[in-house]
Amino acid sequence: MKDIIRQLEAKRNQAYLGGGQKRIQAQHQKGKLTARERISLLLDEGSFEEWDMFVEHRCTDFDMADETVPSDGVVTGYGMINGRLVFVFSQDFTVFGGSLSEAHAEKICKIMDQAMKVGAPVIGLNDSGGARIQEGVASLGGYAEIFQRNVTASGVIPQISLIMGPCAGGAVYSPALTDFIFMVKDTSYMFVTGPEVVKTVTHEEVTAEELGGALTHSMKSGVCDRVFENDVEAIMMVRRFFNYLPLSNREKPPIRPSTSKNDHVDLSLDTLVPSNPNKPYDMNELILKTVDDGEFFEIQPDYAKNIIIGFGRVDGHSIGIVANQPLVLAGCLDIKSSIKAARFVRFCDAFNIPVVTFVDVPGFMPGTSQEYGGIIKHGAKLLFAYAECTVPKITVITRKAYGGAYDVMSSKHLRGDVNFAWPSAEIAVMGPKGAVEIIFRDEKGDPEKLAAREAQYKAKFANPFVAGKRGYIDDVIMPHETRKRILRSLVMLQNKELENPWRKHDNIPL
Ligand code: HXC
Repeated sequence: MKDIIRQLEAKRNQAYLGGGQKRIQAQHQKGKLTARERISLLLDEGSFEEWDMFVEHRCTDFDMADETVPSDGVVTGYGMINGRLVFVFSQDFTVFGGSLSEAHAEKICKIMDQAMKVGAPVIGLNDSGGARIQEGVASLGGYAEIFQRNVTASGVIPQISLIMGPCAGGAVYSPALTDFIFMVKDTSYMFVTGPEVVKTVTHEEVTAEELGGALTHSMKSGVCDRVFENDVEAIMMVRRFFNYLPLSNREKPPIRPSTSKNDHVDLSLDTLVPSNPNKPYDMNELILKTVDDGEFFEIQPDYAKNIIIGFGRVDGHSIGIVANQPLVLAGCLDIKSSIKAARFVRFCDAFNIPVVTFVDVPGFMPGTSQEYGGIIKHGAKLLFAYAECTVPKITVITRKAYGGAYDVMSSKHLRGDVNFAWPSAEIAVMGPKGAVEIIFRDEKGDPEKLAAREAQYKAKFANPFVAGKRGYIDDVIMPHETRKRILRSLVMLQNKELENPWRKHDNIPL
């Protein structure tokens, strides 16, 4: 018995040491934490239950039989974040560069399967050189086993990927299949093919950072949802982010008490929208003055900035916010912003998070680059996402809601539950100038007459009452009471039941 205990201790110590002190030091020198340090920061103190510490690879080629490390380059198990269950895997770069062997993949699959059975999220901390080269196809099989589980779990349990080192080749597709990807500045990168292959194939010279660093993916490709300065900040922010989410699609998100008053009135909102309709304003102000404690967890803040998406709370309840941003491209919907918001709405819908939409949209972006890029199909994604969404939907039109974009942005016609307009709302087919230039084309040579026509059109249509007359909006509210009215609507909607008809799956225009 004593012998076994001694062996156990020895194995544990070996596992804790991973690839050895030298490699741990090298990891620290790069500004990175080790796999176990990351887990201990991510989870509530003392809550980690580790599984499969004694798993070792089974490879015998390339003298690998003598080179085994307990845990085989990935630490797996479950624990708590603020007292709520979560499964986690953390790749250990100090062991064969965190590369994925068959056994390493089996460990990840095991916790994913368990997470599905009990209904709890999976957080993956990725730091890996990719497929374990010595194992070849067994490793590829391992990746595919993970991919399959990512897809099966999609929409059932939240899946979050934190990229904290290399993530290259086909390995990128596991994070890509999860709900959110967060990256760490300077130390993480993701690409399908690395700089060397790029140089050979396309003759482009590019660094790893330029090709797939955190800034590239958060600003250019939209692959990354948030960038953090270092490991510690990334992990702390994931803990905070976790609090907005339910454990699975069978649950509602947790309620977090706040110090914000529910009947709080912010009079400054009454002057947020400038009297000149062509003057922009910052939609963030409305968001921050609506949510509890001014706390808003923005997703993709540096990508397609003409739309803002993210999570907040009202009276402690999680909400997803989608808002046009008049400061960027006048808040127009284009390809990138449509895709960005559509994916977000679908996440909220899958996980029982009500969607609050703030609308100030002059329409879809015109131009050949948008049309050639397929704005028809991509814009339809957002339309599709809102139309299929069955969670509570509350819409506030602050200013422009023109044309097709009016329909798309959670309108009454797409089963919006509560649709408000501010007095400054203009709900119309298009802006007054464009409208008269079309209707009164013959009067183009007479600017005075055209100006009079424009004023006439504006008086008739640039207001919330035409839509109000038809019941397309439920009420015209003062800006300062927005939070209160949203809160009341959420309370009214808390037992909402709405189901789409049965089908194998829908056919969203991908
Ligand atoms: C086995 C690996 C490894 C791998 C790294 N190591 N990657 N071992 N399989 N894929 C080992 C190294 O031999 C080294 O061992 C240790 O990890 C650290 O690696 P370094 O190269 O010293 O670290 P660094 O300089 O930081 O470079 C990291 C790296 C580089 C950029 C990730 O190691 C690298 O390019 N690795 C190969 C990447 C790759 O081609 N992977 C396969 C991709 S194909 P020692 O003993 O010296 O510490 C793929 C297909 C997936 O992944 C398909 C899924 C469908």
